[in-house]
Amino acid sequence: MHSIFLRVVVAGLVLAAVAGVGMMAQGNPEAAKVSNPVPATPESAAAGKPIYTRYCAVCHGTTGEGGSGSDISPPAPNLIDAAWKRGSTDGEIFDVIKNGIQPDLNMEPFGDRIKDPDIWNVVNYVRSLAPKN
Ligand code: HEC
Repeated sequence: MHSIFLRVVVAGLVLAAVAGVGMMAQGNPEAAKVSNPVPATPESAAAGKPIYTRYCAVCHGTTGEGGSGSDISPPAPNLIDAAWKRGSTDGEIFDVIKNGIQPDLNMEPFGDRIKDPDIWNVVNYVRSLAPKN
């Protein structure tokens, strides 16, 4: 009886740990399910560019390489390398831009300033900055 109880507790902890690691690796599974409704055309990227320049470049740099002149710590990450701490899908990137990153909100939410279709244009623009392999 006692050992069954212990096993259940241990199994629960293991599951929680696995789920936690999974979350870190995958970013935001719910947001990842959302697919980009705006085709990644040159027109869409061109529409995203002025929005990126206005709202994002100050922290992430005009080239998307991150850091830039701000003293925010940790600095704004590189958006054109392969590393996506918050998830690499369009849906996850959209969610980060719209809702920001808790708890510090150094990456602030832009949902109040940029309309959803334009957030997708910004996602497509950021993608277009990344080097093609
Ligand atoms: C005030 C500075 C600042 C501005 C402005 C800003 N960001 Fe960020 N951004 C950050 C910081 C800092 C982080 C990392 C936050 C963290 O991990 O807690 C971040 C994270 C991100 C991430 C997640 C990157 C990853 O590796 O998963 C994306 C995507 C992103 N920003 C896109 C944008 C876009 C697009 C804009 C413009 C709409 C923007 N940011 C504007 C500072 C900024």
